Amino acid sequence: MPMTAIILAAGEGTRMKSRHPKVMHKLLDRPLVSWVTRAARLAGAERIVVVVGHGADEVRAHLAGEKDVECVEQTERLGTGHAVRVALEGARVNKGAVLVLNGDGPLVESETLRRLAKPVIDDGAAEAILTWTPADPFGYGRLEFNAEGDVTRIIEQKDCTPEQAASLTACNPGFYAFDGAKLAAHIGELSTANVQHEYYVTDMVEILRGHGERVAAVRTEDADELLGVNSRAQLAQLTAIARDRINARLMDEGVTIVDPATTWVGPDVTVGRDTVLLPMTMLWGSTTVGEECVLGPNTRLTDCAVGNRVSLEETVGVDVTIDDDVTCGPRAYLRGGAHVLEGAHVGTHVEIKNSTIGRGSKVPHLSYIGDCTMGSGVNIGGGSITCNYDGVHKNRTVIGNDVFVGSDTMMVAPVTIGDGALVGASSCVTKDVPADALYLERAEQRIVEGYASRRLERLKRSED
Ligand code: UD1
Ligand code: CA
Repeated sequence: MPMTAIILAAGEGTRMKSRHPKVMHKLLDRPLVSWVTRAARLAGAERIVVVVGHGADEVRAHLAGEKDVECVEQTERLGTGHAVRVALEGARVNKGAVLVLNGDGPLVESETLRRLAKPVIDDGAAEAILTWTPADPFGYGRLEFNAEGDVTRIIEQKDCTPEQAASLTACNPGFYAFDGAKLAAHIGELSTANVQHEYYVTDMVEILRGHGERVAAVRTEDADELLGVNSRAQLAQLTAIARDRINARLMDEGVTIVDPATTWVGPDVTVGRDTVLLPMTMLWGSTTVGEECVLGPNTRLTDCAVGNRVSLEETVGVDVTIDDDVTCGPRAYLRGGAHVLEGAHVGTHVEIKNSTIGRGSKVPHLSYIGDCTMGSGVNIGGGSITCNYDGVHKNRTVIGNDVFVGSDTMMVAPVTIGDGALVGASSCVTKDVPADALYLERAEQRIVEGYASRRLERLKRSED
């Protein structure tokens, strides 16, 4: 059965006290809504429909990066049932299994969503509802069951009598699975006859049962994965839960994390065995790290591919590839598609952008290498930079194999330095250097013996 997920994300989230819609607040490396789209995707949803409303443009712009996601705008917030209806109509969903998920419930696991959809996919239920019994059920919709354990009704907290509020303790965290055809056929029957005068998606239980359908309950024991974000304090609390879960999994898989409280890893990152993550390390996005690496302290990587036995100390990398046996830092910054090949070294206060650093090459100190193709076995002296920008264009520097560039060299691109060439320290390279040549650009040296003391005497005399 094909699966569609509808994610409710039109709400403002007043308690966040923010200019931004609630679902755009970040948890680890991505906004809340993207945790839910991810869980839906991993659960097998082929289509993901996000209902946007408050701050719609911001949510849409963010979700444009997720190709399997469609946004449907709910211009008036008339309740969760209305939001689902807008999604069904806007995205023409009327078959398969339909998950309805809360956009502010980022920790829900794909495994749980699969379990939720099962009664609909395999056992003919028209709807399935996730449920648990929290320590304090206040505020949640309450489930009523029949003798078979099926759900007969959900009563919102605000619609509960005091007796119902006290006796009904199984709660609705806001995650549902529906038979899409039955949902689409009957959603028009929702009404606003309740305390809040809203269309409640929770009323689908009674409507579907009225048509002779079954509504299953799917229980979960893990209360943490059902937590929602309504305030900044809850955002911090859930962030810590997500961090701890991911760190626990990595340690299980053979990664050493010296201080799990200060190590932050996104949900899609992979780290190989016997790699050590030192304190204040952050690994985000699609980053992959191989085995036997040492990262940190203070290393942050976003969307990077790191090989084996790599050491990255106080290194920031964004969108770069770092091959086996590379060492970087302390204080290296690599970005913009840089590729550091096997055994190379990028040292202290060095920035590498959109460049290839060849096998075993070294850029040890205080350099900027941008838009450069560098061969293997190259040594770049301290303080040397590629002058890649002429004010209008970015130009390339090409450095062959086994080139030695002396310290404080300016390579004014576009320029090519041939294999095995030698560039004298403090040169400004504006012409191509042939292979095996010496390039030297330096004013003639002068030595004036005894000059310093004569100058001092002259200055003292002029004071009298
Ligand atoms: C809902 C459930 C309640 C459940 C609780 C769990 C209903 C009627 N009640 O209540 O049983 O215990 O969630 O958190 O569904 N939204 C829209 N458009 C709207 C209204 C809401 O997109 O018109 C979105 C919100 O942004 C939010 C989600 O739907 O992500 C839930 O809405 P919310 O108002 O928080 O529902 P609750 O009253 O908490
Ligand atoms: Ca809520």
